[in-house]
Order: sequence, then structure tokens, then C-alpha cells
Amino acid sequence: MSEITLRNVCKEFEKGHFAVKDFNLDIRDREFIIFVGPSGCGKSTTLRMIAGLEDISDGELWIDGELCNYYEPKDRGLSMVFQNYALYPNMTVYGNLAYALKIRKVPKKEIDERVHKVAKTLEIEHLLDRKPAALSGGQKQRVAIGSAIIRKPKAFLMDEPLSNLDAKLRAQMRIELAKLHKELETTIIYVTHDQTEAMTLGTRIVVMKDGVVQQVEAPIELYDNPVNLFVAGFIGSPSMNFFDAYVGEENGKVVVWLGGKNQEKKIYLKGYQAEMAKLKVMNKPVVLGVRPEDIYEYEEAKERGIEKDTQGVEEIVTAREMLGAEVFLYFDAQCKTHAVRLRPENNTCTGEKIRFYFDTERVHIFDKETEENIFYREGAQK
Ligand SMILES: Nc1ncnc2c1ncn2[C@@H]1O[C@H](COP(=O)(O)OP(=O)(O)OP(=O)(O)O)[C@@H](O)[C@H]1O
Ligand SMILES: [Mg+2]
Repeated sequence: MSEITLRNVCKEFEKGHFAVKDFNLDIRDREFIIFVGPSGCGKSTTLRMIAGLEDISDGELWIDGELCNYYEPKDRGLSMVFQNYALYPNMTVYGNLAYALKIRKVPKKEIDERVHKVAKTLEIEHLLDRKPAALSGGQKQRVAIGSAIIRKPKAFLMDEPLSNLDAKLRAQMRIELAKLHKELETTIIYVTHDQTEAMTLGTRIVVMKDGVVQQVEAPIELYDNPVNLFVAGFIGSPSMNFFDAYVGEENGKVVVWLGGKNQEKKIYLKGYQAEMAKLKVMNKPVVLGVRPEDIYEYEEAKERGIEKDTQGVEEIVTAREMLGAEVFLYFDAQCKTHAVRLRPENNTCTGEKIRFYFDTERVHIFDKETEENIFYREGAQK
């Protein structure tokens, strides 16, 4: 069992300057929790406070029902894996794996069994006699993870453990980690910059900005129902497209003009979206957000019956990326580049014009001042 609770946890490195502010989170047993956010937002600091490597300035840290603020790191029952996997260079892989057990005076025979079991799980049995210098990046990473697993901790804390690996190895290790999480049945708290890691590994994602938690949600929920402009822009790659826009009424319909009131480019809202827009931002400037996959060309828009909801959005393609299973078209508007994800059959070339259609049931509207998503549905999936 390993439940970790943070109650109003703060970190103040300098007086009045919070690296982490009022961090609240209930991490359930066996969760794979991901911390994401821009550089300097407090991810590592939070993890280090949980591990006991950094003092908690204010608030409470509970691990399995015990208040742990003042526990020594070694007494918290957690294992940490760092970005720069700390292996002992003079020891073999076997020695590195065995080390934590040796200093805990575990009997030799048991150490031997546990080392082999972990090595087997991570497929590094054939490397046990090698020194770290003779290992590849991915192999070193496995040893580092192995030396964390072998202690049978209550939970693992991992700070960007894959960031030193190349893209292919990263993808491989990502799948290994997912398997490992299933197999070990322990709680993992994992810091990453990587969108794919966050979306695929996490049971829940914590998005942070300037030391403050913005939203905690299951990956798909976060993707579909972001609480604010920041979360909407941070989750997803290529990111959500944002347009300055204005909400008004036209022939009894709720309309969102791109660029400003009465502009030629516009979309019509329906149902829930129309109601919320009417309620919250009627006759106001807003930010309109739409993901690349929620924009279509005419044929597909017609198939979906949404071709009448967008008018006048005709753009010149400034770049085209063919990825095989999909094609990305880019266009410039409002001094920004926007992305559209289409079926690979679409053969619009760079420099050509194309008309786009938004799936207006999938767009988001953000209050220009508060940056809140006015379509956000609280507790939508609970
Ligand atoms: N020992 C320290 N003394 C003073 N300020 C610190 C210290 N460690 C971190 N900070 C500051 O606290 C803030 C949060 O840092 P932290 O390392 O937690 O960010 P992060 O989210 O892990 O960023 P990255 O993605 O770059 O690793 C930053 O502004 C950082 O400069
Ligand atoms: Mg960090």
C-alpha cells in the first residue's frame, strides 16, 4: 500500500518567493502520477520534498497515514530515479543492483536471488558483470531503475528518467515502464517534459505553472476538458490553435468572429457551447481554441455535417508535413502559425489556398481576462 497526500505544501527558497505554492494532491495506491509543466515550475522541487531531499516550508506530507514532513529520506520507504542515473562507476552492474541491499545487511543468498530477479525483469542479466562505462544509455537507465526496484519501495519517484535517451530508446523504455508499473503494482510519481510520456503513462496528470497546480486529471480528460488557456496550450502536440475572437449574435445564432466583431471569418456555436457563450461571454472579446484534429477540409466536413458551421476561413498553406498516416498543413493568421491535421489523401501543396471547417462542438472559448475555459465541465468524468 502506498498512498501519498500533499496538503497545502509550499516551498519558499527565499522569503516571499514560492517555488511551490499550496500544492494539494491525494495520490492513490498504484497510481502513475505525472508532473508536467514548463521549466522552473516546481516539478523537481515537489518531488524532492516528497523524497525528503528538500525541506517542506509549509503544509503537510502524509505517506500511508503518517505525517512524514520530518522523516529522513531513508525512512520514507521511497525510491528515487534521477535524470542523471547515479550509478557507481567502479562497481559492476551486479554490484550496483546489490548495493542498497548490502548496506541494509540483507543475507547474501537473498541479495543474489533479488538481483537476478530484477535483472531478468529488466532484461539486463547478460550485463551483470559489466561496469557502467561499458553500457549504452538505455542499459544504464535500466540498471538505475533496477537499483530503485530492488529495494521494494512503497513508491517510486522519477525525475525525467528518460530525458537522456534518444527518441527510439525513449519510446522503448516508455513501454517498458508501463509494463513495469503493471508488474510491480506500486505507486509511481514521474516528472517529464514529454507530452507522449505524460499522455500514455499517467493514470493522472498534474499540470503545474509557476509553482501552482493548474489541473489534475486523467490524460484524456485533461486533453478534452482543459480548465484554462495554459493547460489547453500545454497539453497536445502540435498544440491547440488559438485565435483572438469576438462573441456575438447573428440571426438568432451565437457566432464567434475570428479577429474581431463582424469579421468575415466566423463559426456558429450550437447546444451547450452556444448556451455557455451566451451566458458568459456575449458581446465580449475572447480567445477561441481549436485542436489541429478538429479542423477539416470540405469533403470531410460535409461527411460530418459540419460544413455550414464555419464561414470564410480560407487560408494559404505555408507548410505541409506528410507523416504517412496523416498530413499536417500549417497556415499563418493573427501573427501565429496554426496547424491542421488532415487525412493523408489531402494533397494541398504549400502556397495553395484551402478552406477549413471547425468542429464547433470541439472548440474551446477562453475568457480573455481570466483565461478560464468557459466550456470547462467540472467533475465531468467523475
Ligand atoms: N536550491 C534552490 N535555491 C533557490 N531556488 C531554487 C532552488 N532549486 C530550485 N529553485 C527555483 O525553484 C523553482 C522551481 O525549480 P524546479 O527545479 O522545481 O523546476 P522544474 O519544474 O523541475 O524545472 P525543470 O523542468 O527545468 O527541471 C525555479 O524557479 C528554481 O530556480
Ligand atoms: Mg526539474
